[in-house]
Amino acid sequence: MSLNAERSYKMKLRDVENAFKYRRIPYPKRSVELIALLAISCTFFLFMHTNKLNSRLKEMEVKLQPSEFSALGLTGNHISGHDAGGKHDDINTLHGTFQYLKSTGQLENLDPAHLNNTPKAERDFIFYNRLEKTGSQSMTRLIKQLGDRLGFDTYRNIARPWRSITESEEDEKDLVEQLFELGEHAVYVEHANWVNFTQYDSPRPIYINMVRHPIQKVISAYYYQRHPLIFAQSLMRNPNKPMQTKKFFDTNFNDCVRKRVSPHCVFDAHNPFNGDWRRFSLHLCGNSEICTHFNSETTTQIAKMNVEREYAVVGSWEDTNVTLAVLEAYIPRFFTDATKVYYSNTENFTINNVSHDTHLDKDVEEYLKSSFAFEIELYMFIKQRLYKQYIAVHKNEF
Ligand SMILES: *[C@@H]1O[C@H](CO)[C@@H](O)[C@H](O)[C@H]1NC(C)=O
Ligand SMILES: *[C@@H]1O[C@H](CO)[C@@H](O)[C@H](O)[C@H]1NC(C)=O
Ligand SMILES: *[C@@H]1O[C@H](CO)[C@@H](O)[C@H](O)[C@H]1NC(C)=O
Ligand SMILES: *[C@@H]1O[C@H](CO)[C@@H](O)[C@H](O)[C@H]1NC(C)=O
Repeated sequence: MSLNAERSYKMKLRDVENAFKYRRIPYPKRSVELIALLAISCTFFLFMHTNKLNSRLKEMEVKLQPSEFSALGLTGNHISGHDAGGKHDDINTLHGTFQYLKSTGQLENLDPAHLNNTPKAERDFIFYNRLEKTGSQSMTRLIKQLGDRLGFDTYRNIARPWRSITESEEDEKDLVEQLFELGEHAVYVEHANWVNFTQYDSPRPIYINMVRHPIQKVISAYYYQRHPLIFAQSLMRNPNKPMQTKKFFDTNFNDCVRKRVSPHCVFDAHNPFNGDWRRFSLHLCGNSEICTHFNSETTTQIAKMNVEREYAVVGSWEDTNVTLAVLEAYIPRFFTDATKVYYSNTENFTINNVSHDTHLDKDVEEYLKSSFAFEIELYMFIKQRLYKQYIAVHKNEF
């Protein structure tokens, strides 16, 4: 794609949520046939709903690497799970985190002000560099409804047919300048990596994001990309995208990983395909080369540092109520009544999700647990921080 074409996509950034949401994509004839064909070859997995993954993930005893950064001041040996006596809850739950803070004497001095990065922002503007397959469209819709209610503007970019995994410094600068022009009391949403606005002498925004268990995220991404409608849409955005074989659509995740059918299913650190959008340390780390390393301790540490020092809130739909409460408490100008609005029409916020087979075979699960060890550590760090922020505000309710 030429630089100019790429640029013009960026320039259309003011395209607002409304226009985007209701835009009808005309389906050319070929695409209709294509969809029908794909639908036939893919339907089988649409019937394979199972709730096994959740319980399987709960069973996992994830062994994490030692790490300096920790939301709870824990060493790597402790971050992973049950406390020594095993009497208390798993530490990676709201109550487990509460118990831990209480038993270590941290609870008493827990102060929301120390966990609040919102006052560090130099403008009244949220930059939500949303992660793929974490329910970001649902969050974007919620933000839109809150904007209509509270009187702030919401913007998102036009989807690009193709993008590199990192932006050049020049592109970063363009983005920062354009976001500055959008004005105050507004939210901008894009699949992008963390950007240091200060580096471009631009006022620092309020950063937010959402996460999800890394293994669930990768399974979700796998089937999402193979969903007939989603695939057809991406073909229409990018006509140069190669058509795929029936095998591509029919292979289930376990087989793809076990047989290393395609580079998309190989999660070794050296595999360049790990550079795509299936992991989240990249988004939270930034656009430098070091951030492209998959499951790397260094990338993870930078991401943790950014989360701790820069992000106002990184939430998760796995903890809907905690996330909404933390957003309300720490970013009230944008999220007042988020819980109320969300529960007044939940059906409006469960969108863009594709039903898929969630079964994980034991060998595949083992492979993924080790391949994603640092990603999982980062994820747990984020969850512990979220719980800690919640507890700081609601400690008397436990
Ligand atoms: C952002 O950039 C500024 C200015 O270059 C620098 O001082 C600061 O350390 C950077 N922040 C992060 C988190 O990298
Ligand atoms: C979350 O909040 C809603 C609305 O207040 C409530 O009905 C629901 O039980 C809560 N869920 C959990 C898991 O606490
Ligand atoms: C659900 O979303 C639609 C379109 O976004 C909106 O018109 C409608 O008011 C929403 N429903 C509720 C109950 O807010
Ligand atoms: C997907 O969305 C539908 C409603 O559109 C909802 O019933 C279902 O629970 C959602 N699935 C997940 C996994 O959230």
